[in-house]
Amino acid sequence: MKLSTNLCLLCLFVFLIFTSTNAGGLDNTSFYQDYYVTWGSDHLLLLNQETEIQLSLDQNSGAGFESKLHYGSGSFHMRIKLPDKNSIGVVTAFYLYSRSTDRDELDFEFLGSNGPPYTLQTNVYVNGQGGREQRTQLWFDPTNDFHSYKILWNQHQTVFYVDDIPIRVFKNNTKIGLSYPSQPMQVEGSLWNGEGWASDGRKTDWSQAPFKAYFQRFNVDGCVLQTFNTTQCYSSTFWWNSEKLQTLDEQEQRDYERVTKQYMSYDYCSDRSRYPQTPPECQSNQY
Ligand SMILES: *[C@@H]1O[C@H](CO)[C@@H](O)[C@H](O)[C@H]1NC(C)=O
Ligand SMILES: *[C@@H]1O[C@H](CO)[C@@H](O)[C@H](O)[C@H]1NC(C)=O
Ligand SMILES: *[C@@H]1O[C@H](CO)[C@@H](O)[C@H](O)[C@H]1NC(C)=O
Repeated sequence: MKLSTNLCLLCLFVFLIFTSTNAGGLDNTSFYQDYYVTWGSDHLLLLNQETEIQLSLDQNSGAGFESKLHYGSGSFHMRIKLPDKNSIGVVTAFYLYSRSTDRDELDFEFLGSNGPPYTLQTNVYVNGQGGREQRTQLWFDPTNDFHSYKILWNQHQTVFYVDDIPIRVFKNNTKIGLSYPSQPMQVEGSLWNGEGWASDGRKTDWSQAPFKAYFQRFNVDGCVLQTFNTTQCYSSTFWWNSEKLQTLDEQEQRDYERVTKQYMSYDYCSDRSRYPQTPPECQSNQY
């Protein structure tokens, strides 16, 4: 009993070392390798040999960046530290976006707050149709340190992860007539003033400005569409398309159930005043 516990701790330890050094090895990608600044360049600062950026927001501007390339599948991962102090009204965003009239979009939107708990809103647009908001209260203080946020997007499922815990799943159920994101998307990040929208009508306290958000890890694990065609982006030679990432594994399913039960504060699927009929994908996205 004792021995197996120790062995297990040892595996965990080795696993942690492995994953952290692995992540560390990827962390040195320069921002400019895969990204460029889209707006507010005077509110974006490069740090640590361009492996980290700081976006700032004041009454004049925020800032945003995007990937140079379009992707057809991938595991899009960013480490983010949110603005501290009273950031009511301030929105930090990390998302995939297809820049077409009937756009596909996968969103992480972090809503500013005057202290924990902080709310993370996710949304899924397919063919220009969104309105699929879910809100999760983060179980840690995201302004204290960097945490990992990831969007897995393959032919089978789209999963939003917070520190490797799945908080949202959107499955490909096109075979039963539901829509699924399929357009080439770019990776985007921004810091902007969402006063009113993101603050339940409360005002941004500009005396706290500039608000500062930090992003790290600019290595993109995605299928580049200028190089590959859409069909090739579904190939299982890309690790994010592998069989084990077609569904959540058992541990992930348990985490997902626990986290959604404990921390989901809003779900469009159960908002009967907005949707008198449950949106069709809600049932099939469950575990
Ligand atoms: C980044 O790290 C990798 C592996 O740790 C190394 O091979 C590479 O030379 C590093 N690149 C830069 C720009 O430091
Ligand atoms: C969704 O799944 C169907 C098979 O059920 C597949 O043909 C299609 O390519 C998938 N769509 C995307 C965007 O991956
Ligand atoms: C895309 O890739 C698939 C699989 O490799 C191939 O069969 C198909 O011919 C390619 N399509 C184009 C337009 O190149």
